[in-house]
Amino acid sequence: NTETKAELIRKEEALTFYQPREKYSNKGHFGHALIIGGSYGKIGAVTLASKATLASGAGLVTAYIPKCGYQVIQSAFPEAMVLTDVDEKMITNIELNFEPTAIGIGVGLGTEEKTIKAFETFLKSNKSPLVVDADGLNILSKKKALIKLLPEGTILTPHPKELERLIGVWKDDFDKLKKVKTYSKKHQVIVVIKGANTITVLEDKLYINTTGNPGLATGGTGDVLTGIITGLLAQGYNPLVSAIFGVYLHGKSADIAVEKTGYQSLFASHVVEFLGDAYLDLF
Ligand code: APR
Ligand code: MG
Repeated sequence: NTETKAELIRKEEALTFYQPREKYSNKGHFGHALIIGGSYGKIGAVTLASKATLASGAGLVTAYIPKCGYQVIQSAFPEAMVLTDVDEKMITNIELNFEPTAIGIGVGLGTEEKTIKAFETFLKSNKSPLVVDADGLNILSKKKALIKLLPEGTILTPHPKELERLIGVWKDDFDKLKKVKTYSKKHQVIVVIKGANTITVLEDKLYINTTGNPGLATGGTGDVLTGIITGLLAQGYNPLVSAIFGVYLHGKSADIAVEKTGYQSLFASHVVEFLGDAYLDLF
């Protein structure tokens, strides 16, 4: 029996998720998010995700990266705090000095053996709500047993190739949704199926996004989505709302950006830049 409930996420629905800021709020109310990722040549992924985390409204963000990215991220993004791995070029040991309100892991991470070990050790002790993207997902596909270590309500954000590695090939769109629903139920995770019409799946429920455009088909926009969702989680939005509201705002930001940049010249940084306009557009 596969009764499916599908809901469109338009401005009307997005507005119901929005939590206004109190006059006397301070950064402590909006959480301290952590982005873990990066490897030699892929520090930009973490920079983009961290910026998006703060732009979505998190109070504080820390980036956990290999040593080689330290100067880069501090100069490119002074609002972020940075923790570095002992290794120069990749993550080999995730050692934290605080308990993050939410964590986004996987962007630019790589899938070296040492990184996989560090990822596993991290999952065993982690208590924070989690978003897993990119190479974090590829590691879950390589080591299927690790999926059991994810906290309930973890958000996975695969693009089509990453999804195929996770759940195997599908026959058609109907079969794909069926497989994702089964996967979501079995592992108690939320799956954001990225693409032109991003669909978020929680067990038998589907949430179909209505924002976004082909300008998003460019490197780094996925990293920005990871940051936005992590930032919403850190602010106290529940995991399902963080996923579907995050996808909505990401697409809306791109829709506003593309009016200025055109499809060809939109890049991931613009999606961070126009995120504020996406919030303002709700009203
Ligand atoms: N219409 C609307 N949205 C789109 C479209 C489109 N035609 N194409 C892509 N998008 C959106 C997706 O829904 C998603 O939110 O852009 C984002 C792209 O995310 P990814 O595919 O993860 O791309 P990105 O992460 O930026 O790519 C860089 O990261 O995941 C790794 O190894 C992967 O090489 C890749 C790298
Ligand atoms: Mg990606």
